[in-house]
Amino acid sequence: MRRLRAAIVGGTGYGGMELLRYLLDHPSVDVTAITSRTEKGSVGEVHPHLRGLTDLQFTAGKAVDLARENDVVFFAAPHGVAAKEVAAVLAASPTVRVVDLSGDFRLKDAGLYPTAYGWPHPAPDGLAAAAYGLPECGGRAAVTAPGCRLVANPGCHASATILSLWPLARAGLLSARAHVVSVTGSSGSGAEPKKGTHHPERFSNFKAYKPLEHQHVFEIEQTLRAAGAGEPRVAFVPCSGPFSRGIATMAVVEVGAGREEAAKEAFRAAYGREPFVRFVPDAPEVRAVAGTNFVDVGVTAKDGAVCATVAIDNLGKGMAGTAVQNMNLLFGLPETAGLRRAGAGL
Ligand SMILES: NC(=O)c1ccc[n+]([C@@H]2O[C@H](COP(=O)([O-])OP(=O)(O)OC[C@H]3O[C@@H](n4cnc5c(N)ncnc54)[C@H](OP(=O)(O)O)[C@@H]3O)[C@@H](O)[C@H]2O)c1
Repeated sequence: MRRLRAAIVGGTGYGGMELLRYLLDHPSVDVTAITSRTEKGSVGEVHPHLRGLTDLQFTAGKAVDLARENDVVFFAAPHGVAAKEVAAVLAASPTVRVVDLSGDFRLKDAGLYPTAYGWPHPAPDGLAAAAYGLPECGGRAAVTAPGCRLVANPGCHASATILSLWPLARAGLLSARAHVVSVTGSSGSGAEPKKGTHHPERFSNFKAYKPLEHQHVFEIEQTLRAAGAGEPRVAFVPCSGPFSRGIATMAVVEVGAGREEAAKEAFRAAYGREPFVRFVPDAPEVRAVAGTNFVDVGVTAKDGAVCATVAIDNLGKGMAGTAVQNMNLLFGLPETAGLRRAGAGL
């Protein structure tokens, strides 16, 4: 098979940066273009850890033009950009495929966008055709379905939360409300400095934000519903942690006395053969997954309650790692190509 040509929209941000880091090591992909509206120089000037590994220069190229010259276009731009541009990108070439890292195509119900993202969806007809791409939780089938050309890459908190609940939903053990606390590092807010992400504000600090009202609840419930959970109820409390990379998610569900072993078995059955899921004996830690596409999962059960803890890298399995996994699935490449690597460990 010939090498794939890939373009990245939004290359100065953390998602574009991390996509490029993975794709530079990919055995079957060449990145031909990486865009910025603000930078014109070499990629290494903005992302110094990539110096010497690529000669790419930022380009102001439009996504619709990149579509004609590439097999895949990744959108790593803020919410609201892909929603306006993807239809033209897909129309520009009959073969190009799109992986969108934003929330623009994640929700099937267009009516939820004003509540979740604050605007009516500008291209609601595109929502049905988009595959929600969390491969381990039903996404593999959606992305590899014939004719799939648009993948909605899941949100970072959503990825970790769905991974912590999906086996229970699938096994019919999610009839009670799930109580979820999910702690993210500061890179989850993107590269643009803001008060809430400024180092003196984040370092040595800890707080919840948007308790019970985070926009990811919609995609979490949509995915759990599709897994067979009926009308799932997820009390979701996101938190900001004093670290840069990583998400640690703790989900507690009452499954009922006598069902503890069935709950543990549900996780083994769902993830036992997944190449990026690693079971840990107690509870996982973010450091072990930083810089990787791995999902570390710990499951404990006692007195009718199950606690599933999940650690991912928000920039890896929570974003760029899954995006590359989805690209591999879209093009029939080995699913793990370019993705099996150890993190730095410290
Ligand atoms: N950070 C995470 O952990 C995470 C996880 C999952 C999903 N996501 C989602 O992934 C997307 C990217 O996140 P991020 O953290 O990488 O954001 P980011 O660091 O803020 O980067 C955004 C990028 O988009 C570019 N951009 C901004 N407006 C644009 C426009 N109108 N057209 C084209 N490019 C534009 C910016 O570059 P220029 O200003 O140089 O053009 C920048 O390169 C977002 O939708 C985010 O919600 C983020």
